[in-house]
Amino acid sequence: MSTTDADRELYQRAVAVAARAYAPYSRFHVGAAVLARDGRVFEGVNVENAAYPLGVCAEKSALARAVTDGCRPGDLEAIGITASPCGGCRQWLVELGIERVVYARGSGEVVTASPAELLPDTFEL
Ligand code: THU
Repeated sequence: MSTTDADRELYQRAVAVAARAYAPYSRFHVGAAVLARDGRVFEGVNVENAAYPLGVCAEKSALARAVTDGCRPGDLEAIGITASPCGGCRQWLVELGIERVVYARGSGEVVTASPAELLPDTFEL
C-alpha cells in the first residue's frame, strides 16, 4: 500500500506527540495520531506504569480517545504510529476497521499497510 502526502502528515503528528509519552521504564517514546473520516485527529502516547503490564500503548491511547469521542468501527481512516504496532494493537486496528496504518519499521522506514496485512486470518467473535 503506498504512502500518501496526507499519510506522511499524520505520521508527523504522531512524531510530534511522542514527546509527551510517559515512558520512564523503557524510555521508548511512542506517539500515535488517528484520522477520522470527518477530519478529526486523535492523538495518543504510551503511558507506562511501575507495574509493567499495566502500561498502555500509544495507538491504544489514541484509539480509545477516538472511541470516547464517538467514533465507531468504520469511522476511522488512518493512523500514524512511530513504532511498528504490537500484536495486541494490531487486533485493535482490525476491530476498529481502520483503513491505513502508517508506521515506522524497526529500520526507521515509514510504510503503510492495511490491518489485514498486519494481522492475517484474524480472530473474530
Ligand atoms: N509501545 C507502543 O506504545 N506501541 C507499540 O505498538 C509498541 C510498544 C510501547 C509500550 C511500552 O511503553 C514501550 O513501547 C516499550 O515496549
